[in-house]
Amino acid sequence: MSEYILEMRNISKSFAGVHALKDVTIRCRPGQVYGLVGENGAGKSTLMKILAGAYLADAGEIIYKGERREQMSAGEIIDSGISIIYQELALVPQLSVAENIFLGREPQRALGILDLKSLHERAAKLTERLGISMDTRTPVSELTVAQRQLVEIAKALSQNADLIVMDEPSAILAGSELDQLFRIIESLVEHGVTIIYISHRLDEVFRIADEVTVLKDGELVDTRPIEQLDRPMLVELMVGRPLDEIFPQTEHEQGDLVLIAENISTDTILENASLELYAGEILGIAGMVGSGRTELARALFGADPLTSGTISLAGAKGDSWNNPAQAIESGLALVPEDRKSHGLFTSLSVRVNLTLPILSRLTRFGILQSQAEDEIVEEAKDRLSIVMASADQEAQYLSGGNQQKVVLAKWLETNPAVVILDEPTRGVDVGAKFEIYKLMRQLNDRGIAIVMISSELPEVIGMSDRILVMNDGRIVGEVPQVEATEAGIIELATMADAVANAS
Ligand SMILES: Nc1ncnc2c1ncn2[C@@H]1O[C@H](COP(=O)(O)OP(=O)(O)OP(=O)(O)O)[C@@H](O)[C@H]1O
Ligand SMILES: [Mg+2]
Repeated sequence: MSEYILEMRNISKSFAGVHALKDVTIRCRPGQVYGLVGENGAGKSTLMKILAGAYLADAGEIIYKGERREQMSAGEIIDSGISIIYQELALVPQLSVAENIFLGREPQRALGILDLKSLHERAAKLTERLGISMDTRTPVSELTVAQRQLVEIAKALSQNADLIVMDEPSAILAGSELDQLFRIIESLVEHGVTIIYISHRLDEVFRIADEVTVLKDGELVDTRPIEQLDRPMLVELMVGRPLDEIFPQTEHEQGDLVLIAENISTDTILENASLELYAGEILGIAGMVGSGRTELARALFGADPLTSGTISLAGAKGDSWNNPAQAIESGLALVPEDRKSHGLFTSLSVRVNLTLPILSRLTRFGILQSQAEDEIVEEAKDRLSIVMASADQEAQYLSGGNQQKVVLAKWLETNPAVVILDEPTRGVDVGAKFEIYKLMRQLNDRGIAIVMISSELPEVIGMSDRILVMNDGRIVGEVPQVEATEAGIIELATMADAVANAS
């Protein structure tokens, strides 16, 4: 028998004239971790969707467990031992956590009656293994994006696969959650399971991968053992040129106070949060899944009603707001973490998405100034290197990272005083990340204040002038950039008595 569990040979795939993959070959041995990296739109997800049976390749063959795979349904492919955690989460919002994990494979009693007790027991075991406390009866619609991601991982584990593909599984996990994920991967690998791990967080790839495959513009660049690579080399293979990974800093002194939140609580986990925000700074918000980061962003934006406390602009304007429309009117913008449901109109064109918030500015006497519109689209495309077939392409057909850039660009056009960014670089490739960082600093230089929520600690530390750490719904500490370390932040974010000490 072959030493490989999987060979994908000479795979090609086009979408309406776009070559997503050209003659790509990868080979995987049992019990190994394979990193799959490349810029946004490089073809990583497409390759894995072909493996999962979601797309059919135009050319090439798949040899799995020593046999050439004939055309199979996605269900048959799962049964053959391949599981995928998709980048765009694929859960059914109306169903519970447990129902999602076992969808289509629910335990049944005699006569085909659903065995609910066993369903929840088995689901609880899996979530426990992932180190998450979650009622398995909760509908998925009530979970945060991060929690949904963990449910996806639990689902893949429940399928007892021999080969697990993780497409950006860690995009919103931080610190101890990542450790937990890596522990699980290690134990799977010890049992001979093969992992294909797609991530834009290259530190993670170096931490767990045995071999790394780089794709660029749909073509294979190289596959190398991890020992033969360092970070700058890998970045160069991905981007096609050397890239200085230096976080841009602002040139300015701290500006005037622009926003004050005092003792704000909402009906969510958020309790008694107070913060001050100054012109031209980046205030980072760090914390684990469920610590209340997103809830803080929503409260600041007026998206969740306050049950106590106040938020207002400082200085002469002194505005306060009770809903997002008023918040926008006062000069706030929020780029939410769940771009699928809040950030992007996936069935509309990139052009429409980019210009929607400023439509009134582009319209003169009721007539849309299409030249001005074109300029905005061109500028956003260049500034953020958005890869698209044309500005009229529907947003849903952009790669994940390019969708994120469109969402960001759209809000930046509104000229806000305060921008709240929830995971702004989630799923964004390394080159584009630095473009986004530069853009954030340009906003700072114009006096705009930024609140940035991020799970990626190097990014929080590299970009924030000050960092607030959240734990269990409260702000438990403030760390200036010069004193910030990953270990220090994780300690504050996970310490059980940090919450008690803070109050
Ligand atoms: N269903 C589709 N229809 C048209 N084009 C598509 C479709 N799916 C993918 N593409 C295109 O194929 C190319 C590869 O996309 P893919 O999603 O595989 O990239 P990726 O490497 O996963 O990127 P990212 O890091 O952003 O997730 C992109 O140019 C994308 O726009
Ligand atoms: Mg992808």
